[in-house]
Amino acid sequence: MGGDGPRGVVTIGRRAIAALYFADALSMAELDNAATSPTLLPVGPKKDLAKDRTRRGEMLYNDGSMCFQQWQSCASCHPDGRVDGLNWDLLNDGMGNPKQTKNELYTQWTPPTMVTGIRKDMHECNRAGLIHIQFVTRPEEDVHCFDAYVTAMKPVPSPYLVNGQLSERAKRGETLFKKAKCADCHTTDSKGPNGEHLWTDRKAYDVGVGTGTEAGKKFDTPTLAEVWRTAPYLYDGRALTMEEVLTVANPKDAHGETSKLSPEEIKDLAEYVLSL
Ligand code: HEC
Ligand code: HEC
Repeated sequence: MGGDGPRGVVTIGRRAIAALYFADALSMAELDNAATSPTLLPVGPKKDLAKDRTRRGEMLYNDGSMCFQQWQSCASCHPDGRVDGLNWDLLNDGMGNPKQTKNELYTQWTPPTMVTGIRKDMHECNRAGLIHIQFVTRPEEDVHCFDAYVTAMKPVPSPYLVNGQLSERAKRGETLFKKAKCADCHTTDSKGPNGEHLWTDRKAYDVGVGTGTEAGKKFDTPTLAEVWRTAPYLYDGRALTMEEVLTVANPKDAHGETSKLSPEEIKDLAEYVLSL
C-alpha cells in the first residue's frame, strides 16, 4: 500500500483505502488497476524521524524485516511493548529453560532485567534482544531508540478500578497486601521519578516456584504495575489467574503468607493486585 504499518482497510466500490500507521498517511489504491502505485494522502505534518527517537524506536520495534530472517520483530512477542502470554526459550540465559514474555512497562526503572536479572538494565536488555533473538547487530543509536520507545510507555488504568478508585473489595485487599507480607518485596514506597508505583525492591528471591532447571533459583522481583493485563503469571505461566498465584502456586507460604487467608480474603487480595 506504499508505506509501513497498515492498521485498517476499507473499500468503497473498487477503491481500497488503508490507514498506514507509520507513514502517517492514508493510502488509496484502485483495485482494478494493480499496476499503478497507490496514492498517499498525508495525515498531519511529516515527522522528522532523525529527531524523534521515540517514534523511530516504535517503528524499529515493530519492524520484522530487521531480524536475520526478516520475519520477527520485538512486537511479535511484546505487542504494544506488553506480552503475548507465551513461554519462549531465549538464549539470554542458556537453552532448555523457557520463560514467559515480560511486560516492558517501567523496565527502565526496575533494573536488573529479565526473570533471572541476567541483564543489568533496560539498555543492555534491549541490545541483547537484537543479538540473541533477532540475530543481528545494529548501530547503538537503534538501541537508544528502543530505550526511548519503551520509556515512553504509559500504564493503562486497570478495569478493576471503579471511577479511578479501588473497589470496596480491593480496599480490603490493600490491607491484606501488607498482612500477607507481599509488601516486603513488592514494596509500596518504590517509585519512579514522577511518583509512579513500581512495586519492587529490585532484589532477587527464591519464592519456591522454580522447578526443573530453575529449582532453587532466585528470581528478580517483578513490578506489579499493569499485572491485570499480563496473565498467565509466574516465570513459566503456571498460574492462569491471580487467585492461583496466591493459592495452588504458593503451597508453602514461600511467596507471601497466603495459606491462612480465607477464600474471601484471597478474592480481596487478588482484586487489589489486579487494580495496580
Ligand atoms: C520470541 C519472543 C520475543 C521477542 C521477539 C522479543 N522478546 Fe523481549 N522478552 C521475551 C521473553 C520471553 C522475555 C523474558 C525472558 C526472561 O526473563 O528470561 C523478554 C524480556 C524482555 C525484557 C525484560 C523486561 C524486564 O523488565 O525484565 C526486555 C527489556 C525486552 N524483552 C526487550 C525486547 C526487545 C527490545 C526486543 C526486540 C529486539 C525483544 N524483547 C524481542 C520474548 C521476546
Ligand atoms: C520474598 C519476596 C516476595 C514476596 C514476599 C512476594 N513476592 Fe511476589 N514475586 C516475587 C518474585 C521473586 C516473583 C517472580 C516469580 C516468578 O517469576 O516466577 C514474584 C512474582 C509475583 C507475581 C507474578 C507477576 C507476573 O507478572 O507473573 C505476582 C502477581 C506477585 N508476585 C504478587 C505477590 C503477592 C500478592 C504477594 C503477597 C501474597 C507476593 N507477591 C509476595 C517476590 C515476592
